[in-house]
Amino acid sequence: MRINEHYTEIGNNYLFAEVARRVREYKENHPDKTVISLGIGDVTQPIVPAVIDAIHKATAEMADAKTLRGYAPYEGYDFLVNAILKNDFLDRGVQIDADEIFVSDGAKSDTGNIGDILAQDNQIAITDPAYPVYVDTNKMVGREIELLPCTPGNNFVPAFPEKVADVIYLCYPNNPTGTVLTKEQLKKWVDYAIEHQSLILFDAAYEAYVSQPDIPHSIYEIPGAKKVAIEFRSFSKTAGFTGMRAGYTIVPKELTTQTSKDETLSLNAMWRRRQSTKFNGTAYIVQRGAEAVYTPEGQKQIREVIGYYMENARIIQTGLEALGLTTYGGVNAPYIWVKTPGNLTSWEFFDLLLNKIQIVGTPGSGFGQAGEGFFRFTAFGNREDTIEAVRRIQTELNR
Ligand code: MLT
Repeated sequence: MRINEHYTEIGNNYLFAEVARRVREYKENHPDKTVISLGIGDVTQPIVPAVIDAIHKATAEMADAKTLRGYAPYEGYDFLVNAILKNDFLDRGVQIDADEIFVSDGAKSDTGNIGDILAQDNQIAITDPAYPVYVDTNKMVGREIELLPCTPGNNFVPAFPEKVADVIYLCYPNNPTGTVLTKEQLKKWVDYAIEHQSLILFDAAYEAYVSQPDIPHSIYEIPGAKKVAIEFRSFSKTAGFTGMRAGYTIVPKELTTQTSKDETLSLNAMWRRRQSTKFNGTAYIVQRGAEAVYTPEGQKQIREVIGYYMENARIIQTGLEALGLTTYGGVNAPYIWVKTPGNLTSWEFFDLLLNKIQIVGTPGSGFGQAGEGFFRFTAFGNREDTIEAVRRIQTELNR
């Protein structure tokens, strides 16, 4: 037996696993301290009543042989696919077909698994900093990666890669920086991809947090994008499904590629083949919950929760800026990206906050080298903890 030695290139721990390990260790050694986590972007507010009602109803169906559901369709139940199609696309003027939607257990799996249908020798471009899944999963198979720095120096707008990229990862609203691209800025990437026959992997997990008018919710708002882009969506941050697991991926039928033998292959057909082989569908109960997100009550209720988190973002941002710190994001995304004070490295700032005031955030360098000297706070905490965290940070840094 031989193992995949590329795993030796990615470090022992996934970023959030490493943060969790350090926090666990700290808590074991300081059982008397109250630690507040604004680290991993995990939700704290209850799932909304419309969704909970739908889940209860679906659960009762599972208790009766007449309404029991077994294996779910690989691509998702029609009731959910049609709700997604209508509400997330058609009603917003974006033309998508139902058979381009693949319901899944979340955007993490899909952004990680999409590489299954891509050749190992693709040249990959990934913004830096980035959600670690993109870099780690490409390193796992030994693909060559060019990082595209996103810093205050370029207003967090990545420049085109030096080496022509076959595959480009874009995440907007961005995790971790909380920054966005305008339609015009995103169009340049779509045009680049059309010109170079590249594939854009567009992670729109935070789309529900867009609050400004010229910011695209979907890459398919840009003409031509259906020829070059796959889009990932998630119910995790939109409707608090981090523990329930549901998301979906759009693979347009226009996306085709030539094989070395000059055959034309459809990425939609390939992803269908991949999913039906390796994935057995998202739980019926969870899909009924996701469907309820699109009801009028569901929409109203999730908008309230999103508003609550965005108020946390405002509290964190104004609290940090009052200290003279420079922050980014927080307007169209639930993340605040802050320059560390006193030129501390990201992990030094992490240690300072944890050891002195028991606040957990995520070190920017964990998202890539261009994140060094930055730190990410999430707005997904509860209000009390968020206010208390800002208070502790202000007291400590004002010393
Ligand atoms: C994050 O904190 O970046 C996210 O919660 C991680 C994830 O969505 O997997």
